[in-house]
Amino acid sequence: MDGNGRWAEQRGLSRLEGHIEGCKATRSVVKACVGLGVQVLSLYAFSAENWGRASDEVNGLMHLIEDALCEELDDLIGADIRFLASGRCCELPESLQRMLVGAEKRTADEDGMVLNLLINYGGRAEIVDATRALAYRVQAGEIAPEDITEQLLRECLYAPGLPDPDLLLRPGGEMRVSNFLLWEIAYAEIVVMPVLWPDFDGGHLIEAIVEYNARQRRFGGVPGVE
Ligand code: IPE
Ligand code: MG
Repeated sequence: MDGNGRWAEQRGLSRLEGHIEGCKATRSVVKACVGLGVQVLSLYAFSAENWGRASDEVNGLMHLIEDALCEELDDLIGADIRFLASGRCCELPESLQRMLVGAEKRTADEDGMVLNLLINYGGRAEIVDATRALAYRVQAGEIAPEDITEQLLRECLYAPGLPDPDLLLRPGGEMRVSNFLLWEIAYAEIVVMPVLWPDFDGGHLIEAIVEYNARQRRFGGVPGVE
């Protein structure tokens, strides 16, 4: 969800006001995804690298995420959404951690769309955490090094039950991956759109899906060859 800062700057507002506007866009995009039958929506809310920002922006983002989740929780349940948080959550403020765990628990039995919130998330950190979990299992004698496969590593990622994303949609126009779901996006189709996140709506989402539908996915194969 990129471009909140630039959106605010263009209007002479603070970056935090951009994030508040971005939050409204998030609400409408979540609704649009439910309406379109999207099965999993992973939203990159706060990266492991975002701690380097000014402390008032970081604190503002933490409060904003906590407040938004608190306000939306009943609506998430009403829309059958199962909430997940992915990232090093133990490094987040305690009240936010409680909120995230509570939202996961309260929505655990929902069988509609999965809303996976990436918070204090880094793709490299996720692979390091998975590697560490496997190393402990080897050390405990539960598995041998040669038992480690792609499947086994995948099972140690933050949200092992989720399928790999089909579409990586980046608003804000930057042509980079920025440490987002590095393992999982191996074969994702990338769509970059110039629109800044606070301006993003269901129409832009449909535009991206139309572009995705025009892509030919080969997964390293050759079309027509079994
Ligand atoms: C939001 O956009 C991303 C978050 C960390 C919440 P930015 O804050 O990166 O906005 P730009 O890229 O500076 O415009
Ligand atoms: Mg940015």
